Amino acid sequence: MAKKIVTDLDVAGKKVLMRVDFNVPMKDGKITDENRIVAALPTIKYVLENGGKVIAFSHLGKVKEAADLEKRNIAPVAARLSELLGQPVTFVNATRGEELEKAVANLKDGEILMFQNTRFEDLDGKKESKNDPELGKYWASLGDLFVNDAFGTAHRAHASNVGIAANIGEGNTAAGFLMEKEIKFIGGAVDAPERPLVAILGGAKVSDKIGVIENLLVKADKILIGGAMMFTFFKALGKNTGTSLVEEDKVELAKSLLEKAEGKIILPIDTVICKEFSNDAPHSVVSVDEIPNDEMGLDVGPATVKLFTEQLVGAKTVVWNGPMGVFEMSNYAKGTIGVCEAIANLENATTIIGGGDSAAAAISLGFADKFSHISTGGGASLEYLEGKKLPGVESISNN
Ligand code: 3PG
Repeated sequence: MAKKIVTDLDVAGKKVLMRVDFNVPMKDGKITDENRIVAALPTIKYVLENGGKVIAFSHLGKVKEAADLEKRNIAPVAARLSELLGQPVTFVNATRGEELEKAVANLKDGEILMFQNTRFEDLDGKKESKNDPELGKYWASLGDLFVNDAFGTAHRAHASNVGIAANIGEGNTAAGFLMEKEIKFIGGAVDAPERPLVAILGGAKVSDKIGVIENLLVKADKILIGGAMMFTFFKALGKNTGTSLVEEDKVELAKSLLEKAEGKIILPIDTVICKEFSNDAPHSVVSVDEIPNDEMGLDVGPATVKLFTEQLVGAKTVVWNGPMGVFEMSNYAKGTIGVCEAIANLENATTIIGGGDSAAAAISLGFADKFSHISTGGGASLEYLEGKKLPGVESISNN
């Protein structure tokens, strides 16, 4: 069902509550990756330019004890948002109460405020994360309309997304442009892909991707598997995996996935091995049939990159989730770079990175512009690829 988007609302003169996902990585109070803030700018600008008053809010990390309040203070994010927008963002160091209500009342058309980390409400009974009905109602009472642009949080049913949507009034909730794009690309790839649809899955553990593999076995035409999880599949095939990471309790599952796949799953044919988990120790490339007992695989090898590149030829939709090796170490980044390049060079294909580590890898390796869409979701993208309904998406008004 098509969802309302922000352009379907008349925002002029209205108080627009806007849930964004500014759960950005921070080190010593400084933002180390601002992609999520940049990705929400079009929606914020649209509302401001069309005469709306924006009340923005997000969670930042988890808040379990009083000591987290300082670490999870979202003020630096509001300051960076102001720089990126090129206009003041009034920061309210509260999640409720008189100070917040006054600041909302003082907002003029085209102005924006941001309030403190929504999860500060978790300190007293997990009110945000447990979708406390009073909290959703209270936040909804602060605005006229609700725009949800927080795709990264869409797999959570929290007060700041689902709770507000339930209380803001019929037809008053819309998706922001980022949310719209995520639904279009990830939802589209899973529900109505242009074929062939090729999925590339990597990462350390099969257990993190079971749901995705199961759903894609039905939806995709091929699934290329790399990353450390390949070794659990090799074990299932009776190969020697040396000291590579294997999830012993998932070997049977890997066996059954391979059976169900009927040839749709394509595994690496060579791997980069090393005696230690180290970038500096001697490493070499071997066939996956020749992994020595005392070595571990840390990347896919060049023959696999070639094989995967060939398998991608002619693909019309590609979804990639999970690096091919330990890309943080330069000697084991070649598989991930090679796959990134192969996808980037595809012509006439919709290419999607399903968030998390592979998004970070593609961006840090300089491929950000080469994909049709790089998701801002981690867990949300995975659950969407599993075919699950996301509460944050479901709670947006239908058009
Ligand atoms: C994310 O980073 O995946 C989202 O912001 C959700 O965060 P959470 O896992 O803490 O709910």
